[in-house]
Amino acid sequence: STGAFSPQPFVVRKHVSDTCLSSAVAEITTSPIAGMKPGTSGLRKKVEVWQGVDDANKYYVENFIQSLIDTAAENNGGKMIDTVIVAGDGRYFNNEAIQIICKVLAANGVKSIWVPQGGIMSTPAVSAAIRMREGGAAQGGIILTASHNPGGPGEDFGIKYNEEYGQPAGEDFTDALYEKTTTISSFKSLEGGDDIDIGAEVNTSFQLTEESAVTIIDPFAEYVEVLKSCFDFDAMRAFAQRPGFTILFDGMHGAGGPFAKRILVEELGFPESSLMRCDPKPDFGKCHPDPNLTYAAELVKKMGLDSDGSSLGCTDATPALGAANDGDGDRNLIAGAGCFVTPSDSLAIICDNWKAIPHFSKAGGPKGVARSMPSSAALDVVAEALDIPFFSTPTGWKFFGNLMGSKEQFDQRDYTPFLCGEESFGTGSDHIREKDGLWAMLAWVSILMDANKDVAEGEPLVSVQDVVSNHWSKYGRHFYCRYDYEAVDSDAANKMMDLIRTELVAGDVSSIGADDSGIKIVSGEEFSYIDPVDGSTTSKQGLILQFEFENGDPARAVFRLSGTGSAGATIRMYLEKFEKDESKHGEAAPVALRSLADRAIGLVQLKQITGRDAPTVIT
Ligand code: G6P
Ligand code: ZN
Repeated sequence: STGAFSPQPFVVRKHVSDTCLSSAVAEITTSPIAGMKPGTSGLRKKVEVWQGVDDANKYYVENFIQSLIDTAAENNGGKMIDTVIVAGDGRYFNNEAIQIICKVLAANGVKSIWVPQGGIMSTPAVSAAIRMREGGAAQGGIILTASHNPGGPGEDFGIKYNEEYGQPAGEDFTDALYEKTTTISSFKSLEGGDDIDIGAEVNTSFQLTEESAVTIIDPFAEYVEVLKSCFDFDAMRAFAQRPGFTILFDGMHGAGGPFAKRILVEELGFPESSLMRCDPKPDFGKCHPDPNLTYAAELVKKMGLDSDGSSLGCTDATPALGAANDGDGDRNLIAGAGCFVTPSDSLAIICDNWKAIPHFSKAGGPKGVARSMPSSAALDVVAEALDIPFFSTPTGWKFFGNLMGSKEQFDQRDYTPFLCGEESFGTGSDHIREKDGLWAMLAWVSILMDANKDVAEGEPLVSVQDVVSNHWSKYGRHFYCRYDYEAVDSDAANKMMDLIRTELVAGDVSSIGADDSGIKIVSGEEFSYIDPVDGSTTSKQGLILQFEFENGDPARAVFRLSGTGSAGATIRMYLEKFEKDESKHGEAAPVALRSLADRAIGLVQLKQITGRDAPTVIT
C-alpha cells in the first residue's frame, strides 16, 4: 500500500489516546552520498534513489533529513528545533518516507511532530499551517513532493524544507544543508517500535520517545481559515448558485484535490461534478501533474480549447471557469469557456481587479507587485497605471518571499498586501509564503462575481473571455508562450547557453541584421538581480534577447535552463510580443509568435547543438 490515500472522514476529538510506541534511540553509522544539492525547490531524485534500492543509497532519506535538521538547529542558535510539520503530496513513497522522517526527528529530540491525517497536504496548506497553527507556529515544514514532476515507480520523489514564516528555505540554508550531506558520518533514528497510524483521528498523538510525540493534525484547518481571510466566502457561496456559473477543477490526482473538495464543494456549495481527478493517487493516475496546455489536456478539452490555447467552440455544457493544480497544489492553470488565460495575463488581470478581492480591497489595493523576469510585461503596465511598486525577480518563489517579508524580517518598507506570480503557472500573495493554486481560482471566482454584479438574473453572464478581452483593449496584449525542451543532454544545453553569452550578449549583434522573416536582433543581456531587501546578488538568471519586427514592433526571447528537472537539462525559451492593435488580439499566442520562435531558435543554433527538432511542450 505504497503512498496510498484513503480519504478519512474528518472527526475532531480532543486527544484520543497517547500511544507509546516502545523504541530506542540509536546512532547509526553512515557515509556521505553524492548529489544531494537541493535545486529551486528542494531535492528531487528518482524514487528508487530515495528508497535506497542500491546499497549505496540505503540511508538516503536519513542522511538528507539528519543534515536538514542539523542545519535548522544551527540556524536556531544551536538548539534543536521543536515543532515541525511533515506532510507530502501523496506521491509514491509518501507514507513510508513520513515514517522514516518521524523516527529521525524524534531520535534527534524534535518535540512536536505534526503529521496531517492521511499524510497529504498541499504545499500552500503547509505554508499556512506553519504560520498559523494554534499553540504557536511551527518552526518548519518538511514537504515530501517533487511538485509537478510525475510520481510512481521510475518517477520522481522529492523533499523540501520551509522555514518559520512558511517560506521555502533560502540558498544559505540549502547550501549549508548540502555541505553537511558531504561530511555526514552518522544519523539518529529509532530502533524497534511500531509505525505511527497516519490515518488515526485528528489530535491522536503517538509518543515516540519520552520527549517527542507525533500528533495527527487536521490538514485543512489553517488553510481554510487563511482563504476565508482573503475572500468573501458568503458572497461566493451565493454566486455559486447563479445559473450558468459552472466551474471545473482538475486536481490532477495530486494534493490539491481534497482541498478543492473541501473549499469548492463543502464551503462554497459547488456541486461534486465541479471536481475532476480530485482523489490523490501515488502515480497521479499516470499523468504528468503539471497544469499547462499540454499536460492538462483533458481539462483543456473540456473547456472547449485546443492544445495551443485557441477555442474549438463551446456548448452550454462548457464550464464558465476551469482550473487545474499541480501535484502539490501550488501551481494553477486558469481557463474560461473557450479561453485559455496565460499565467502572466492572469496575474495582470488579478492586479487590475484588486477591488474584487477583499485581501487587497481592505487595504486599498496591493502595496507591491512582482513577477519573475521571464514572465510577460502584462503586470508591468498595470502596476504603472496603478502607480504601485513593481519588481522583476529571478525565477523562484523565494525572491517574492523576501519582498513580502521585508517588514517582519527587516523592519523596512511594508509591501503587504503583496501580489506576485510567474509564467510557470504560479500566482499568489502574502497570505502565505508559497504560490497557491486554489487561491488563484478563488481570485478568478471573485473577479467574475464582481464583473457580473450588475448583470440581472437570466441575462448572459460576463465571461472569462470578456474579462480578458476587455483587459487587452485597455492595456494592449502581451502575446506570450513558452517552448520547453526536456531531458536535453546537459553539455549540449550548456554549450548553447555559452554560445548565446559569447555571441549575442557579449558580442556585437548590430551586424546580424534580419533574415527572411524580417525579424532583427537588437540586443542581448544576462539577467542578474540585486535583492532590494537584503542586498544579495543573484546572477546568471536568464539570457534576454531583444528583437524588432519589420514594422518596428518590439519582441523578446528569453533562454533559461530549468532548475527543477531531474534528468539532463530542460531548456526553456520564453517568447513575448506586445500588440496594441485590438483587431489583432484574437490570434492564438503560439501562432502569433511562431516567426519569432523560428528566428530565435535559428540564431542560438538550438537544433544543431541539441539535435532537437521540436520542443517537448509548448504552453
Ligand atoms: C518551481 C518554483 C517556482 C519556479 C519554478 C521554475 O515551481 O517553486 O518558483 O518558478 O519552479 O521552474 P524551472 O523548472 O523553470 O526552474
Ligand atoms: Zn508545485
